[in-house]
Amino acid sequence: MANLWYKNAIVYCVDVKSFMDSNGDGTGDFIGLADRLDHLERLGVTCIWLNPFYPSPRRDNGYDISDYYGIDPALGTLGDFVEFIQAAEDRGMRVIVDLVVNHTSDQHHWFQSARADRASPYRDWYVWRDEKPDSITDGIVFPGVQKATWTYDQTAKAWYMHRFYKFQPDLNTTNPAVRQEILKIMGFWLALGVSGFRVDAVPFLIEPRGVLTDKPVADPHALLTEIHDFLSWRKAEAILLAEANINYEEAPSYFAAGDRMTMVFDFSGNEQLFLSLARETAAPLRHALAVRPEPGGMGQWAVFLRNHDELNLGGLTEQERQECFARFGPEPDMQIYERGLRRRLAPMLDGDPARLKMAFSLLLALPGTPVIWYGDEIGMGEDLSLHEREAVRTPMQWSPHPNGGFSTAPKKHLVRPVVDSGEFGYHKVNAAMETQHRNSFFHAIADMVSARRSAPEIGWGGVHIIDIGDDEVLVLSSSWRGARIITAHNFSSKPKVFHLAEEGIDELMPMLTESPSGPLRGDSEISLSPHGYCWLRCNGERR
Ligand code: GLC
Repeated sequence: MANLWYKNAIVYCVDVKSFMDSNGDGTGDFIGLADRLDHLERLGVTCIWLNPFYPSPRRDNGYDISDYYGIDPALGTLGDFVEFIQAAEDRGMRVIVDLVVNHTSDQHHWFQSARADRASPYRDWYVWRDEKPDSITDGIVFPGVQKATWTYDQTAKAWYMHRFYKFQPDLNTTNPAVRQEILKIMGFWLALGVSGFRVDAVPFLIEPRGVLTDKPVADPHALLTEIHDFLSWRKAEAILLAEANINYEEAPSYFAAGDRMTMVFDFSGNEQLFLSLARETAAPLRHALAVRPEPGGMGQWAVFLRNHDELNLGGLTEQERQECFARFGPEPDMQIYERGLRRRLAPMLDGDPARLKMAFSLLLALPGTPVIWYGDEIGMGEDLSLHEREAVRTPMQWSPHPNGGFSTAPKKHLVRPVVDSGEFGYHKVNAAMETQHRNSFFHAIADMVSARRSAPEIGWGGVHIIDIGDDEVLVLSSSWRGARIITAHNFSSKPKVFHLAEEGIDELMPMLTESPSGPLRGDSEISLSPHGYCWLRCNGERR
């Protein structure tokens, strides 16, 4: 019997080097993270997703890996990693890690060997061309920053392909030896206790390399099946969470009902969610939910508000994107790659607790598994003086102490500066203050997480959208095994009152509301304040 734990999971993404520094060297580490698991436990997290922590020149925040079988020495040792896994397990939390195998760092010894010698066994692990490709700028991922997708290497005397920055040469994933190595990397981390992988850049990983090279691949998705099969043989309950910014039409080929990717991030839904927040109407998100394909079988969507990258609005129309820019990031410096915003959630929503709580409640009420970016649960802000996406990766703000309690190192030694001024500076926004006060934003989010964990209808069940004749309110009904939960979210700045015109509801038991109240009759009026939300269990059933 498969263990579908991820369907009701609360995933929390951590950048270890920015989370907690235990030894005062200015860089967060595994001992620090293990020490702060109480915070995650209080929030109700059940699964931690670690951003890359492997040895790396760190030119792309560790997504440029130079050794797949180790730990960046500044973050700790393999021993520290295993201790951390154990500490997480003791608290009932699973850990998933980034699997970044579309490319390596150019410092990886495979690439160093491949470029130095045409006869190297690693030469064919990368994608080369002797002649300059017709276009060396096709398929740039970071427009405005990245200059090319092919670069000439003087040592190799050939051009190599790189979907991302030029220091990230693409692996030739059509090479059986490379595929074998990918499985070996997975096996290694599984043996150390991880519960699966967030798979980086999946569309590029399986891209018919023939699009960019002269070696077409017969069945590119076969790689995903191979990875999945290996995973389930080694550890049946482990999962694959795909980073794949794809159209809904493509999703079924990624999921294959969970036989390829267990979960896929819902990037399309994410941008419609932000368009809805910008327009103060649920209509765009409602439409996305209506057309979003069912993952089928074991599959599940992963939903999120913000992540470690830019808020990617590339799938919106130009006019829609400009609306989002105007509302959430009007300054050119807040925008990035001609398509996104390099901002955190709280500043985008003006630090307004009502809007922020509504956004979190919505995240937890959406069909799929929620993924939270560290620091968003206390309302942290960004630092636009940092380059590109680094803006949203500043150290966790733990307390009003120097460096926000993140590190005892001198400020100039910190891996990144802590946000130390303004409305979102650590004096005003920090975990210690948030956890101390019962009425804080953090506790409101923790209550929502707890409601979500006690509502398997949302994670496991099917959803249908209830039309209440008002586009500004999103009403979802999630059902599972005869139990049902109704959630309502008001996107507008106006109070709302509505009736549920639904059959078969005699009584509604409030689970999560802005103000506590007793059971309601099924035909009662439901009121929401501006940007209000409520969760109601039907027919008073208690689980
Ligand atoms: C993914 C990551 C991003 C990284 C890129 C290259 O898109 O989310 O942070 O820069 O892959 O590895």
